[in-house]
Amino acid sequence: MPTPMAFLNGNYLPLEDAKIPINTHAFMYGTAVFEGVRGNWNADQGQLYLFRLADHMRRLRQNAKILRIGISYTDEQLAEIVSNLVHRADFREDVYIRPIAYKSDTVIGPRVHNVADDVLFFAIPLGNYLDSEAGITCCVSSWRRVDDNMIPARAKVNGLYVNNSLAKTEAQLNGFDEAILLNQDGHVSEGSGENIVIIRNGKLITPPPADNVLEGITMETVFAVARDLGYEVEARSVDRTELYIADEIFMTGTAAHVTPVLSVDRVPVAEGKPGPISTLLQRTYFDAITGRNPRYMQWLTPVYTPSAVPPSTPLATR
Ligand SMILES: Cc1ncc(COP(=O)(O)O)c(C=O)c1O
Repeated sequence: MPTPMAFLNGNYLPLEDAKIPINTHAFMYGTAVFEGVRGNWNADQGQLYLFRLADHMRRLRQNAKILRIGISYTDEQLAEIVSNLVHRADFREDVYIRPIAYKSDTVIGPRVHNVADDVLFFAIPLGNYLDSEAGITCCVSSWRRVDDNMIPARAKVNGLYVNNSLAKTEAQLNGFDEAILLNQDGHVSEGSGENIVIIRNGKLITPPPADNVLEGITMETVFAVARDLGYEVEARSVDRTELYIADEIFMTGTAAHVTPVLSVDRVPVAEGKPGPISTLLQRTYFDAITGRNPRYMQWLTPVYTPSAVPPSTPLATR
């Protein structure tokens, strides 16, 4: 049985043994930044592929800088810790790795200077986060996205996710799968754990980072794939009412992958079914992340020594 693993205080250990003091600054004040990294299992190849590991480590370091968290490891060392964790756990299924750079001191007082810091990681099995096959229903949240000058959305700050949690709970308790948050200007920002993309007249449109959006790695990946497939892409502010008239909408995220949106505020999108462009992008993306498309292998880090199994058939051409 694979054991979920952690990396804490410079040591690898089973997740259940990884503990931090209850007066840790990051716990008391939310002073931490985190990443989510996916490992995607390819059973045909007997391989687990970590997706865009270097990009996630780079984003962790940039976001740590915003919170004045020093990271004593190089990006390469951080990436090696992620690979080692998954390898030690011996996972043979889809996994999720959570790296966190945090204020590890046990001092009282909200601030981000003169507080000691550290990194910790854990790796767990994680299948579907949202029903990406069937698609999801969304509502526009009554909670507004926090502004860059309040808590920066781009920084993936742990404490900021109270904003996301309130929106997600409101959505689910009202019978929806996911929330879409508007920013203070009333423009569409993003989901509680996903970027949002609308499709109008064959063009993919997503809100720009300045609309208080996390600069999503999945979104950037899907845009690269879409360009390769000949679609035009654009980052511009999106009005709420565009959600009601879009030809298709999908959400992207490390946990959520590419998930079609079937309705917003109970207004059907693409007749309430996953649209053709969303479906094509989803299949091409799944091929890319599971090592089924040679064109996108540069995004993958294999965890296990490759076996001599022939390449598996791409989903997009099945
Ligand atoms: C609020 C929010 N937006 C967007 C995303 C998607 O970003 P990425 O594709 O880099 O995982 C996430 C998840 O990481 C998120 O938490």
